[in-house]
Amino acid sequence: MTVLDLPAAMELSIEQQWPHRNEDWELFLKLGEGLVAERDGKLIGTTMAWCFGEDMATIGMVIVSPAAQGQGIGRKLMEEMIRRLGNRTIVLNATEEGLPLYQKLGFVETGRVYQHQGLVKDVPLAELSPGDRIRPKGKADTSLASFYGAASGMDRRALFDTLAQESRTVVYTHDNVPAGFAMLRRFGRGWSIAPVVAPDSTSAKALILHWLAVKQRRFCRIDVTAEGDLSGWLDSLGLPCVGSVRTMARGPAPVSGPEAKVFALAAQALG
Ligand SMILES: CC(C)(COP(=O)(O)OP(=O)(O)OC[C@H]1O[C@@H](n2cnc3c(N)ncnc32)[C@H](O)[C@@H]1OP(=O)(O)O)[C@@H](O)C(=O)NCCC(=O)NCCS
Repeated sequence: MTVLDLPAAMELSIEQQWPHRNEDWELFLKLGEGLVAERDGKLIGTTMAWCFGEDMATIGMVIVSPAAQGQGIGRKLMEEMIRRLGNRTIVLNATEEGLPLYQKLGFVETGRVYQHQGLVKDVPLAELSPGDRIRPKGKADTSLASFYGAASGMDRRALFDTLAQESRTVVYTHDNVPAGFAMLRRFGRGWSIAPVVAPDSTSAKALILHWLAVKQRRFCRIDVTAEGDLSGWLDSLGLPCVGSVRTMARGPAPVSGPEAKVFALAAQALG
């Protein structure tokens, strides 16, 4: 996959009613690599992958044009990408349609992700304990990428740096010590709060409320994990769940450390 393929790749995602803009595909390609399937010079399938350190990778943007489905193209694209990734554990977020293929390729379910989106309504004030604060990221905040790594069980430093250039970032601090963060970037139909990494659900909610308050009356999306029942909480705020996907791993699943958790993904594709 090269940048020249992206307009045709975007047509495939539009066909699936996925919201990705050309810029979203560009960001994914900048962060990783992709393969395309062509028939008679026309792009009919895609898959992408992103490597994290030596032992982990994620796969996403697996699409075969409806007219070409059921002919083994999805399997071919996946098998070739898996071959390229060698011995790494591969994580992906599977739609119902992708599930049979991924099961056959040895992926097993490890979790769920809930997609919430809509126009942001009135937002309550965040509950912060004494000593807690949400503030913009500054130059001295050098520990955030390592929280992200520990929370996701993958080396997320390069991803963090690239996303930070495309996003606004706020930091949750406890007694002035950074302990979590949340980013906001343009994505699809509006804005995406992604990722959210925090020590507990109270601080994750405070980080999310910060960005929701900034984007009141605007279209926002957030893909939350099962951590801390944020899905039920977002429903109660009027940002409804519009679907869910299954997180699957092929190989030993990444292990998150105790100090922080991933409450919202950078993107379903990136994990
Ligand atoms: C998922 C997708 C990429 C599969 O592409 P495809 O080219 O149709 O897949 P293939 O023809 O290679 O079939 C893959 C395997 O899944 C099996 N399969 C597909 N649907 C199935 C179903 N409903 N039940 C059981 N098995 C199923 C096929 O039989 C095939 O198995 P085999 O290789 O052992 O014969 C395609 O359906 C798609 O683009 N879906 C919409 C986008 C999407 O949801 N992508 C997944 C994102 S995570």
